[in-house]
Amino acid sequence: MKKKRPARRHATKGGGPTRSMLAAMRALAREARERAQAPYSRFKVGAALKTRTGEIVTGCNIENASYGLSMCAERVAVFKAVSEGLDDFDVVAVVADSRRLTPPCGPCRQILWEYCGDILVHMADLKGRSRTMRLSALLPMPFDGGHL
Ligand code: THU
Repeated sequence: MKKKRPARRHATKGGGPTRSMLAAMRALAREARERAQAPYSRFKVGAALKTRTGEIVTGCNIENASYGLSMCAERVAVFKAVSEGLDDFDVVAVVADSRRLTPPCGPCRQILWEYCGDILVHMADLKGRSRTMRLSALLPMPFDGGHL
């Protein structure tokens, strides 16, 4: 008889976030997305960044008529969290409404690497699709302080 595999408690290996934690983060990122200020691109993004101890800080993209000053949801979340004295992050959720799941842009990957290390990036859309990747898979061979 085939042995029954033990139920997997975690959505990821090695004590990663539970499915319900990821669902809660998606919901918070989705709520934050509603606060996006995106009159130019009309592309709203929400993010939720979690510390290992369970605090969650959200962000949304905030655009400007001088387009280059616009700020992505992920960086808003990181800067808010760091400015509040939080550290030791383990997961960031990113929610957008796009045909393909929206990953963090290049500059956001760099900022996430600097302040969060090799965290899990949980990408989700409004239709219930999601995918989780390590930042190191999205940003192989990162440049960081170790090079200076
Ligand atoms: N944007 C984010 O906030 N996060 C991403 O991961 C991708 C892009 C924002 C920047 C800009 O306000 C809009 O989406 C279109 O690029």
